[in-house]
This record gives sequence, C-alpha cells and structure tokens, in this order.
Amino acid sequence: MKHLLDTESLSLDEALNLLDTTEAVAATQARTIKTLPVLRGHTVSTMFFEDSTRTRLSFETAADRLSMDCISFSAKGSSVSKGESLKDTAQTIVAMGAEALIVRHHASGAPQRLANAGWVDVPIINAGDGMHAHPTQAFLDAFTMRRHFFDESKGKDLAGLRVLIVGDVLHSRVARSDVHLLHKLGAQVTLVAPATLLPVNMENWPCEVSYSFDEALATHPDVVMMLRVQHERMGSGGFFPSPREYQYNYGLDEARLGAAGSQALVMHPGPMNRGLEITAGAADSVQSVVTEQVTNGVSVRMAALYLLLAHGEEISA
Ligand code: CP
Repeated sequence: MKHLLDTESLSLDEALNLLDTTEAVAATQARTIKTLPVLRGHTVSTMFFEDSTRTRLSFETAADRLSMDCISFSAKGSSVSKGESLKDTAQTIVAMGAEALIVRHHASGAPQRLANAGWVDVPIINAGDGMHAHPTQAFLDAFTMRRHFFDESKGKDLAGLRVLIVGDVLHSRVARSDVHLLHKLGAQVTLVAPATLLPVNMENWPCEVSYSFDEALATHPDVVMMLRVQHERMGSGGFFPSPREYQYNYGLDEARLGAAGSQALVMHPGPMNRGLEITAGAADSVQSVVTEQVTNGVSVRMAALYLLLAHGEEISA
C-alpha cells in the first residue's frame, strides 16, 4: 500500500492487514505509557483545507504516540489566502521534511491528484475529500463493529452483520467509504434516506436502499449508523421540508432505538446535530459507541501511518 485514498480500491487483504495492525496497536494503547518508539525521527504533516476536530486531532495524536514529528498545516491563516496552490503548498511542506501528507480538502479528488500528479513523492492519506471518501473513518467504524461482533466461525470479519446507514448519504464521504469497506468485510449494508438525500448514480454501490427508517428498524439491525445532516453543503436548501419533518421521519430517538432492539449499536461519525438526526437520549444511551469510535480512530491512524512508513519495524517495540 503506497497511499490510503479510498476503501473501494483496496483489496480485502489490504483491508484486513490494516484492521489486524489496528488490533495490535490498540493493545498497546491500553497501557499506561501509550507512546511507541517505532517511527521516532520520522515526520508527517496534517494538511487541512477544511475544518476538523476528530480526524485532525487523532492523526496528530497518532503521530505523537508513534514518536513522530508532525508539521501541522491549516489553510486558514496560511498563504493559501494569497493564492498559493495545492501543488506549491504540498511541495513546500515536503521540502521541510514531511515524509507523508495527511490531506483533508473540500474538493473531491484533491488527495488523489496529490498522489498521482508527480508533484511530491510521499505517501498520501486521504483525511476526507469533499463528498468522495474518508477511508480512515470507515476503518475506525469497521474496527469498532469488529470489536463488538467478530465471530471467527463466520469467516469474513463482519460476515452477515446488518448495518443501517441513515440520513444525508448524498453529501457523505463517510457513507461511501463505509459501504465499500463494510461490504468487502461481509456486512449487509442498507442506506436509509429520503430520495433527495441519495446520490443519483448508485448502481455500483454494494448495498440496499430503503426510504422508510421505521421499516428498516423493524428488521432489528446490528448497527444503526446515523449521518450528520451537512447543512454547509446544502446551499439554499430544499433537501427536506423542515428540520422538524426530517427529525420525525429520519431522526433516531429513544422510541426508534427501542424498536431496533437492545442488540443494536448506535454509531455516528460526528460531529452530531443533536435534536436533528439524533436525540441526546439516543446519542448518550448505553447502546451508543460514539466515543469508542473516536478512541479507535487513534489506533486506526497509528496503524495506517505505521503501514505506510515503518517498513518492517515491530509494532510491539
Ligand atoms: N468524523 C469526522 O471526520 O469528524 P471531523 O470533521 O471532526 O474530523
């Protein structure tokens, strides 16, 4: 694996290798001293052209825990405001010693362009590009599911696991990356959304679609993954009649959680719109693993950096 750009193009072996490496990393993160020396002396850069809390901080924490130096770049307050290009920004950061670039960008395809244009010759990790892909989020979601449901006798890691992904699929890079990875791992994914919040070309998406949240919940899924309503990508709106109606048809509350059953895990990639796609009661319920997802995100990102940069050094060192 030279880059980590999406989940669709990864082989099953590559996906399993990242999950197994995450398992080894997570074991070290249960210790009091969490820092590992494996990438001491190496340098990575977080290049964020779009806001983030979880992804950015967990990549920077991951770099710290691997004893790496991290060049932290935000487009806000940088020479991007003077017109500096993606190419020149990346070359500048690599010239300072970055050996890998972790890129979040509002434009779909920006990390792929950096990986393929020949401007820089370092691994690129996609930390979320436009409405396209967010592979490390998908891996932390899959890892969290695997920790709760893994059954060796079933073969594939998530074989037969029934996952609902609910809400603003249209604008969600998380949904795209999750669908492809979870399917690869054997899960049965159903997207639940109003027609206005589903992409038009979904023929190649390996999943089912439902327009009724209540009908989907009545099947007692193993996982109910709620998606954030992405107001910032909706322009002048018109995707649903009102927040109240959206909440009524597609919001997860305690009553719907009861209908799903006590076996169902509640997940959300964050940040959450409490009171819109999820109530506080559902978000904070005993079935919610939202903070566990965040914790697992650090281990996933440590594993990704390790696989791209460590070249055979032992994770348990
Ligand atoms: N899930 C996620 O990508 O969150 P941030 O935007 O806070 O990084």
